[in-house]
Amino acid sequence: MSALPFSKLSAPLNALIAAIGLMAVAALTIPDMAGRTRLTLEVLLAGIWVVYCLQLIETLITQRTRGVRDRMPAIAVDVLAVLVPLAAFLLDGTRDQSLYCAIWLLKPLRDSTFFRLMGRVLTNEARNLIGVTSVFGIVLFGAALAAYIIERDVQPDKFGSIPQAMWWAVVTLSTTGYGDVTPQSFIGRVLAGLIMMCGIGIFALWAGILATGFYEEVRRQDFVRTWQLVAAVPLFQRLGSAALVEIVRALRPRVVPAGTVICRKGETGDRMFFIVEGRVSVATPNPVELGSGSFFGEMALITGEPRSATVSAVTEVSLLSLYSVDFQMLSKSSPEIADIIRKTALERRGAPPKA
Ligand code: CMP
Repeated sequence: MSALPFSKLSAPLNALIAAIGLMAVAALTIPDMAGRTRLTLEVLLAGIWVVYCLQLIETLITQRTRGVRDRMPAIAVDVLAVLVPLAAFLLDGTRDQSLYCAIWLLKPLRDSTFFRLMGRVLTNEARNLIGVTSVFGIVLFGAALAAYIIERDVQPDKFGSIPQAMWWAVVTLSTTGYGDVTPQSFIGRVLAGLIMMCGIGIFALWAGILATGFYEEVRRQDFVRTWQLVAAVPLFQRLGSAALVEIVRALRPRVVPAGTVICRKGETGDRMFFIVEGRVSVATPNPVELGSGSFFGEMALITGEPRSATVSAVTEVSLLSLYSVDFQMLSKSSPEIADIIRKTALERRGAPPKA
């Protein structure tokens, strides 16, 4: 059975509905809200809850075809989004029932690939993150201890114990600086300066680890995606594994909609294209169509002359582009493939017009 049309919400629409619901939850906490407006907002929440019930039904129906494992996060979020407000309505007699709809905060997570990506980054970088967090803990405790020793006699009400001094240490180490507790002695102020600098370093380390982790993970995903595309081009099946890795790094995937002009006659050409899927039309005097596995744009790269013809997408086309410098690299690492491309270019140049 296909998805039910009413409940097949796209990810952005899902996020929008959740945002409207959460704004209604927030508005309902305003104490002097008029009775009519309050009723309207409650009806709105009830409407969103009905939509989420329908979505849950759809999720449960499609999980049979797509597998429970795949859909587990979506099922869990959809079940909670329906059950938590329902349980609050049935069991909680207070006026705070609508607050439980705040569980819809989870809704945007159900379809997001970003959170899966973040999970992988945190797992990959766990050792480094734990290392920096340990340093943070050590500096934090050390700062609280030092502040306690230095300031306890000057401000016993604020630095009278290590737990009390810990609040100042957190606020200073994170460079937030509320200013509610400040050291009075000269040495205490020197300590505060040192701790702030440590804090900046520690947060920079955290940010650096996460940024590198995200970059690596995105690069890995791109590599795998391009690898799968490269596997669909028969020409590359002749490559050895080392050359294949090199070419996967060099190729840039791109999808163009039907009707797009990919290269225009007379332009300078700095790249050639391999067709993974779809068809293109080459506007030679007798137009030629090229399909999956073919390539084009090689003539300008080889001869250095302007593009010999305009090439446009007949259908939506999935392409891999190879820049001129990378083509030189391919010529060196795989002369066999470069020869095939050169021979094809020669044939195309001298191609007799079709009858
Ligand atoms: P280039 O000249 O760089 O840009 C236009 C491309 O169209 C060209 O490279 C070839 O890849 C392709 N092309 C030109 N003529 C033909 C042909 N007769 N048959 C197939 N493809 C062609």
